[in-house]
Amino acid sequence: MVNLNIIEEFACLTLDRPQALNALSFAILGEIRDALDEVARMSDVRALLITGAGSKAFCAGADIKELRHRDLVSQRRGAELGQAIFARLDRLPVASVALVNGYAFGGGLELALACTFRLCTPNAVFGLPEVKLGLIPGYGGTQRLPRLVGEGRALEMIMTGRSVKADEAERIGLVQRVVDADGLLAAGMAYARHFTCYSLPVLEFARRAVQRGMDLPIEQGLQLEAELSTLAYRTEDAEEGMRAFEEKRSPEFKDG
Ligand code: CAA
Repeated sequence: MVNLNIIEEFACLTLDRPQALNALSFAILGEIRDALDEVARMSDVRALLITGAGSKAFCAGADIKELRHRDLVSQRRGAELGQAIFARLDRLPVASVALVNGYAFGGGLELALACTFRLCTPNAVFGLPEVKLGLIPGYGGTQRLPRLVGEGRALEMIMTGRSVKADEAERIGLVQRVVDADGLLAAGMAYARHFTCYSLPVLEFARRAVQRGMDLPIEQGLQLEAELSTLAYRTEDAEEGMRAFEEKRSPEFKDG
């Protein structure tokens, strides 16, 4: 149900359950967790790309057919499981790009939100329609969506269940780019190369400073930035980058 492939310098995770629009059954969530653990152990991968099989959906959310007739403890554990797996994605040592090829609803949008960046095809549709089921988002949507698009837009999407098409998603910053459906994977790889050409540990410091800083009061965020920028100075790549500038040549980063 989940395929993990290495394509050139990238790991590519595909949700492969197109007959159910790649809905997140608990089994598929477990496979995503195992795949993320595998990616975290890969030393030669420079970014993770995530997409859905088929042309219709990235992922239509949690598997609704599994959500009924569960006791309170199982419901709570279900939310915590999804949240914990998406938190692993958020905190992977390498950045991730969601390649959204159709519907990204509910847990599917929450999966995309836990990625570092999002690209989508022109037929992509984004939504948190849980309210229509008498539910609210449970895999991080109420927390990550407002951080990305602002409180008002997020509340509107969550409280009305209104979905957002690709052009609006790009305008409100929900996705970085809309790209041709035919070349989605190639576009994802080209997009990732805009940052993976730099030092991986330095990129990780930058990502951590921004993302963890968003959860902190500004004074603590600035402290975090001071600590991580100091760590960046200590890398050999920083020495190489600054030396290359002085020598008027391109730097050769070695990820160290
Ligand atoms: N769970 C389980 N099965 C799903 C599913 C889901 N989330 N979404 C789609 N499917 C299944 C359908 O049941 C259908 O299967 P059958 O052929 O066996 O009936 C198949 O996928 C194709 O779906 P549709 O026939 O509905 O396709 P469509 O093109 O007519 O509609 C859609 C597409 C608008 C995305 C529609 O499928 C839909 O509304 N899906 C549900 C979206 C949703 O509500 N997601 C939120 C889930 S709750 C959640 O995610 C909670 C959380 O925060 C974690």
